[in-house]
Amino acid sequence: MSRIPLRPDKAGESLATLEAPPDWRAVFGREGPLELEIGCGAGGFALEHCRRHPNVNYVAFEWRKKYAREVAHRAEKHGLAHLKVIEADARTVVPKLFGSGTLDVIHLQFPDPWWKRAHFKRAILLPEFTRFLLGLLKPGGRFDFRTDVEDRARQGLSVLEQAGFHNPLGAGAFHPYDPEEAPSTRERRYLVTGQPVYRARLVKPG
Ligand SMILES: C[S@@+](CC[C@H](N)C(=O)[O-])C[C@H]1O[C@@H](n2cnc3c(N)ncnc32)[C@H](O)[C@@H]1O
Repeated sequence: MSRIPLRPDKAGESLATLEAPPDWRAVFGREGPLELEIGCGAGGFALEHCRRHPNVNYVAFEWRKKYAREVAHRAEKHGLAHLKVIEADARTVVPKLFGSGTLDVIHLQFPDPWWKRAHFKRAILLPEFTRFLLGLLKPGGRFDFRTDVEDRARQGLSVLEQAGFHNPLGAGAFHPYDPEEAPSTRERRYLVTGQPVYRARLVKPG
């Protein structure tokens, strides 16, 4: 990613500081499937997915200032008004901004593996937060999970299935690579090197 002078203001600050879910149709100025990404990093997936799907209303969380502000800048520069970046900790702010049964898709791609025991509590796919994320989806809503860390892939998939997500390919099964799906920034590297990527596409029953 080329150097972009960082904006002085936090990305999506007016949303991040709300204490109750906004009317997302009003935020985006239109109806549309509401999608959430946790940890968009440099934004390769968010930007390309929104370019390919101009109908979605997309909210990407990223707590690292540099990434969040650069992705927000790029979205603006490319006229992707349907991509909102929020510079905040998704674990504390997502619960304030989304009501249950309101999301169509949740994306979690290459989450930090948090190898140190002391940091494990920062993981996204802990059982309680995973059940909470299931509750945010509409019935039939999808969870898109990708990682290169086999141990975290199996653990994450098991937590998702135990939380109540349905795996259409069968319990414990990973999804094959789908060239129709935009790759994330990190995934692009693995598509070149051939390093394995574990993908799961789960569905909220009902
Ligand atoms: C390994 S990177 C992957 C980035 C991107 N999804 C990709 O595939 O290229 C994980 C990202 O999640 C972000 N992140 C981790 N925990 C987060 C949290 N609780 N809230 C917001 N962002 C988080 C990190 O700052 C980092 O940019």
